Amino acid sequence: MPLLIRDGEIVTADARYHADIYVESETITRIGENFEAPPEAEVIDASGKYVFPGFIDPHVHIYLPFMATFAKDTHETASIAALIGGTTTYIEMCCPSRLDDALEGYHLWRSKAEGNSACDYTFHMAVSKYIGETEKQLREIVRDGVTSFKVFLAYKNFFGIDDGELYRTLTLARKLGVIVTAHCENAELVAQLQQDLLSAGKTGPEWHEPSRPESVEAEGTHHFATFLENTGATGYVVHLSCESALKAALAAKERGVKISIESVIPHFLLDKTHAERPGVEGMKHVMSPPLREKRNQGVLWNALNAGLIDTAGTDHCPFDTEQKLLGRDSFTQIPNGIPGIEERVNLLFTYGVQRGKLDLHRFVEAASTRAAKLFGLFPAKGTIAVGSDADLVIYDPSYRGVLSAATQHVNNDYNGFECFPIEGRPSAVTVRGKVQVRDGAFVGERARGRFLRREPAHF
Ligand code: URP
Ligand code: ZN
Ligand code: ZN
Repeated sequence: MPLLIRDGEIVTADARYHADIYVESETITRIGENFEAPPEAEVIDASGKYVFPGFIDPHVHIYLPFMATFAKDTHETASIAALIGGTTTYIEMCCPSRLDDALEGYHLWRSKAEGNSACDYTFHMAVSKYIGETEKQLREIVRDGVTSFKVFLAYKNFFGIDDGELYRTLTLARKLGVIVTAHCENAELVAQLQQDLLSAGKTGPEWHEPSRPESVEAEGTHHFATFLENTGATGYVVHLSCESALKAALAAKERGVKISIESVIPHFLLDKTHAERPGVEGMKHVMSPPLREKRNQGVLWNALNAGLIDTAGTDHCPFDTEQKLLGRDSFTQIPNGIPGIEERVNLLFTYGVQRGKLDLHRFVEAASTRAAKLFGLFPAKGTIAVGSDADLVIYDPSYRGVLSAATQHVNNDYNGFECFPIEGRPSAVTVRGKVQVRDGAFVGERARGRFLRREPAHF
């Protein structure tokens, strides 16, 4: 059925104007004024609303065996939550551990998502070891359309790789034109600091941040950048949390290293006092890199607005209260992660755009367009143009609400942003022309989501 979106204010990374959008066969076929709707067309009145390109979350965990448990979402729950929050495409970290076979892991992650996602998706393929068959397997995965890798410099002996493996991964990535995303914390320093703190009887969640201080992240970021510099590969730092790591990444960029930067919604809005709350309340706010001192938040917002930070993702990673309590005797056993797939766009809009910290076009760019360009999805995704996929967010800036676990769609029993007011939310969301969300409710097809095959883009 054709779809007509009438009289919205279209906002992309570089344009803003009033127009109608006409959609046929999943694609935007016309943008103009005063379109007539044929009788069979579905019509959405977007007057008084923004129309944004579907938002892209470049960093989520859905299926994730990690820290003696599994993240709570299924692809169905996470994708419905994503859509209600305006995200129409997510990029999931496909994370087999060092003990697993990479190709088997890849097929496992694909099978978990296939037929179960309400929005479109792709993966970053984690390289958790580099042994004899790794190159052949990675080449096969890239041929299958997954053209970004993920490396962890942290999580020693689980996801973490050593420097030789990092060098070989980046060398292969460069040959294949693949971008490499990286969790940048020095694993050895984290392990040593954790042991020192535990030996001193410091076991609560408030010690998580001191076990991975800013300098450890800055070192990891500089380390990754140095390896990029010496291999010529293209890199992307995930969930950058603090000023010193930002300086390391920007210094590398200045000397010509091909590096982009992502920060995630918890680091823009939550600080380390959240993890210092007593007992399980603190544990709910344990993630890595940790929530930092508040002074970093202004630095991150300014850098995001200036385009020095490229993207704003979530690192969505839900563990419930019972799972967090696995760390009741030691902060090193608290499953790391804070959910956010449902809240990201509304929080960025409220605390960025509505508060005057984030330009409206930068908001679209950071939450959609830039990820589409970096990860080979543009212009099908990330913009509103004739020929693009009709992934559209009709957004109501006059909506007022409050975030709460009681009303969320993510499969978790707490919300890391409980009681945060929001000023704006999607009033309708489409995936390739099909209305999937109306006024905060999922109304669409649960299996609409498609795996997005991508071409290498970083030669
Ligand atoms: O704490 C986090 N970030 N959990 C998910 C795994 C990762 O490091 O991205
Ligand atoms: Zn990470
Ligand atoms: Zn992550």
